[in-house]
Amino acid sequence: MLKVFSTAASLTLGLGLLSADQAYAWGAIGHEAVGYIAMEFLGPKTLSFVQSSLGSTYDRSLGVAATWADDVRSEKAYAWSANLHFVDAEDNPPSSCSVSESRDCGNGQCILTAIANYTTRVVETSLSAMQRQEALKFLVSYLLIIVNLSIHWQFIGDIGQPLHVEADEVGGNDIDVTCAGSRTNLHSVWDSGIINRLLSANYKNSVTVWADALISRIQTGDFRSLTSQWLSCTSTTEPARRRELFATRTKTIEEDLKAFLNRNVSDAEDIIQRAITPLECPLVWAKESNAFDCSIVFSYTSFSDLCTSAYYTNSVPVIEEQIAKQGYRLAAWLNVLFDGSTMLP
Ligand SMILES: *[C@@H]1O[C@H](CO)[C@@H](O)[C@H](O)[C@H]1NC(C)=O
Ligand SMILES: *[C@@H]1O[C@H](CO)[C@@H](O)[C@H](O)[C@H]1NC(C)=O
Ligand SMILES: *[C@@H]1O[C@H](CO)[C@@H](O)[C@H](O)[C@H]1NC(C)=O
Repeated sequence: MLKVFSTAASLTLGLGLLSADQAYAWGAIGHEAVGYIAMEFLGPKTLSFVQSSLGSTYDRSLGVAATWADDVRSEKAYAWSANLHFVDAEDNPPSSCSVSESRDCGNGQCILTAIANYTTRVVETSLSAMQRQEALKFLVSYLLIIVNLSIHWQFIGDIGQPLHVEADEVGGNDIDVTCAGSRTNLHSVWDSGIINRLLSANYKNSVTVWADALISRIQTGDFRSLTSQWLSCTSTTEPARRRELFATRTKTIEEDLKAFLNRNVSDAEDIIQRAITPLECPLVWAKESNAFDCSIVFSYTSFSDLCTSAYYTNSVPVIEEQIAKQGYRLAAWLNVLFDGSTMLP
């Protein structure tokens, strides 16, 4: 079992001197950056919906709204949503990494089904403006969380830790490591340690300066040649049974979403019962980031400082590409819903 985020209490312990509030504010940077990047690539109808739906409360920006699901998960009224923040990937990093919806999406209640639910709701004109705004905020948050490397971690006893760890101490919170001289845990190194260090070293400690730099890499820099690949979500590992079931050969976000929105409703009901959503892209993205657990996240050397060593320099390009890519994908996703196509190369 793994979770995106520990409880405030264990987080505070993990970070030693920081209060939970500070830790949270820092951890939100990755999400904000994705939201700011997406804003740059929205089509006209999408931009208009996003701005009017979010209104001044969120400064009309996905950058501000992107942390909403994290902000409310600890509120009583949204306690149910905390279960939707993760895929319970029962894999075995670093030797084997995988995500399977039927295996890992407990009772059909996980981030994958939540994405399907809020994709449907955000364009459902019979819902109130408030309900659609809520759907937008959940959708944006979950589409960000799905590529967040720390959601796919499972802590298991044999990854080099001396202590046997209980099943509820999961997600890297109990893996003690060092980041720039401070004792912390692996989870918070990926949530905030590396990003904080990167922002202070290269981006004037500003999330918008960072987002702008990633936007220009997408528009005219080294990411430009990757964007069409980012919008494609073909999975070669998809079980044949699933492909047969939906008789699709999904290749792009646009095809995936259109097939989903035009699906046969009786099939859709069946799908809910089997806890498998007909959307393929989010699952492919989850698998893609889960694979980093095996290639990089768990590949640290014991007792090395993860924020000053080769581990840091190897992690930064992964984080920056994940953030840029998901901002671009988020824009494409919303553009298909409101402008009818991705509107992006
Ligand atoms: C991953 O998710 C956590 C919790 O939702 C968040 O604090 C962190 O910033 C995210 N990391 C990235 C790189 O977006
Ligand atoms: C879809 O979202 C609504 C509103 O948040 C929630 O009440 C409902 O339980 C969700 N449905 C599913 C199947 O998750
Ligand atoms: C929708 O699904 C039902 C049940 O699987 C099937 O009988 C029906 O022919 C389908 N309709 C279309 C238009 O595909």
